[in-house]
Amino acid sequence: MEKIVALCKRRGFIFQSSEIYGGLNGAWDYGPLGVELKRNLKDYWWKSMTQLRDDIVGFDGSILMNAAVWKASGHVDTFSDPLVECKLTNKRYRADQIEPQSGTAYYYSGISIPAFVGDPSTANMPPLGGADIFKFSVEPKKIELQFAVLVPIGKPEASAQKIARQFYVSKGYIESQIISLNLQKTEIVENSTAFNPENGAQLSEPRVFNLMLKTYIGPVQDESAVTYLRPETAQAMFVQFKNVLDVSQKKLPFGIAQIGKAFRNEINPRNFTFRSREFEQMELEFFVKPGTGPEWLNKWLEERLAWYEAIGIPRAKIHVLTVPDKDRAFYSQGTYDLEYEFPFGIQELEGIAHRGNYDLKQHQEASGKPLEYFDEESKTKYLAEVVEPSAGVDRTVLALLCEGYDEETVKDEESGKEETRVVLRFCPRMAPIKASVFPLLKNKPELVAIAKDIYKTLQPLLKVTYADTAAIGRRYRRADEIGTPFGITVDFETLEGAKEASTSATGTPIAAGQKDTVTLRHRDTMKQERIAIADLPAYLLTKIA
Ligand code: GAP
Repeated sequence: MEKIVALCKRRGFIFQSSEIYGGLNGAWDYGPLGVELKRNLKDYWWKSMTQLRDDIVGFDGSILMNAAVWKASGHVDTFSDPLVECKLTNKRYRADQIEPQSGTAYYYSGISIPAFVGDPSTANMPPLGGADIFKFSVEPKKIELQFAVLVPIGKPEASAQKIARQFYVSKGYIESQIISLNLQKTEIVENSTAFNPENGAQLSEPRVFNLMLKTYIGPVQDESAVTYLRPETAQAMFVQFKNVLDVSQKKLPFGIAQIGKAFRNEINPRNFTFRSREFEQMELEFFVKPGTGPEWLNKWLEERLAWYEAIGIPRAKIHVLTVPDKDRAFYSQGTYDLEYEFPFGIQELEGIAHRGNYDLKQHQEASGKPLEYFDEESKTKYLAEVVEPSAGVDRTVLALLCEGYDEETVKDEESGKEETRVVLRFCPRMAPIKASVFPLLKNKPELVAIAKDIYKTLQPLLKVTYADTAAIGRRYRRADEIGTPFGITVDFETLEGAKEASTSATGTPIAAGQKDTVTLRHRDTMKQERIAIADLPAYLLTKIA
């Protein structure tokens, strides 16, 4: 992961948001290459949903919506995570993500301090000096302040005491004045989530933490002006169901697709862009006849697995989790999570949920506006059920980077020395740059002129770059590192004719002496073959479609 994060910064895929100010936790910026990669991903999802299918239409809703939407959708009351706080560091964690641990727990009721010392927790600090210095003989004062520490079995109590002392010092007591820690009890605990795995300190009781980011609309910042940045893009598609249905004249089953930003005040953003506070979703709300939700849920599961293969994430790397009842979102009757083997563990890329008619029903009731579908065949009105494949843009970009990253030892084409080649093996469809055009030498005007010509011809068709600095081997390496699948080199054979007869990349023969051909270098195999300049556009376009 460290290597991928470093490459992302070095080559301009992803930067920390507000970096020069120390960053902002849970927010990321996409650099010149990252934005191309992300755009290719979104474009392909959009094309798969709205162009290659007849039963889905596109949509782009606003991020800010009437607060009543979030009340009716259930997000105000239920869109929350359980939060716990480390009593020592005050760091916050999601209770359900705490690794269970076993060990010996030491429970302290508090500490004893010299009687003349004030209690900082009550701000009752008698002035030192004067009469106080004569109070040494007085019994120590007991301070009641509960704390507990978990240490692995076999470790001495001293390691628990060390943490406990830090805790009491953090509450304002002076280390050298702590006469004793008052141990209440010890206990062997198993699989407990009541202690911080990082330091063994006791965690607070879990409390409910709503994940929506609150904001105010308009100049008056009172409760009536409160709304939220959307935590999912889905709700606008439910709320506009009737309008979209009327204008698109679709019949069930049909879907509404949307790509856009969503915001969640995640307790613990982590794993690079994987869990962020601002992220993008690609969501499809697929409306189906009542009773057919489970069948469509399975159809969409297959569709989505095939889609990931088409962007270069193999089926074998995706795990399908049937989400257990207790872990499902409040709106779901059945969910599959598609999980990818990230370097930091197997984690969710996309959720495919059978939302039933939960959302349409909630909004119909709360708004008083009918959201039913009129079925021409049966002449009946009913609420449609919804199956929702909801994918994360940022998580899929991260999966593409992780899947693509590779290192191998190769011989440098010029010096013959062994070196490490870093390569991002993106499938051409996703690659930020599709091809790079190189004149073999910068100081040969004939080579440069043809290379520039090829570059200008390809530029309107696909994302292509031109590079003439550094030795050709170095230029290839730089292109490999950013995942450019094709290198096009204008060399002396282009001017003087092919040295020998060969078969071109397109399968057609190239005769010895044939001019106007270039070297086509393949990123993954480093194989080089010749191709006629005139064949380049058609060849490249079929590879990236
Ligand atoms: N409308 C359904 C919905 O929002 P979800 O499982 O909460 O369902 C869908 O989110 C997808 O959005 C996830 O599978 C994930 O890819 C992405 N996602 C959710 N929270 C995220 C976060 N904090 N950072 C990055 N991506 C996130």
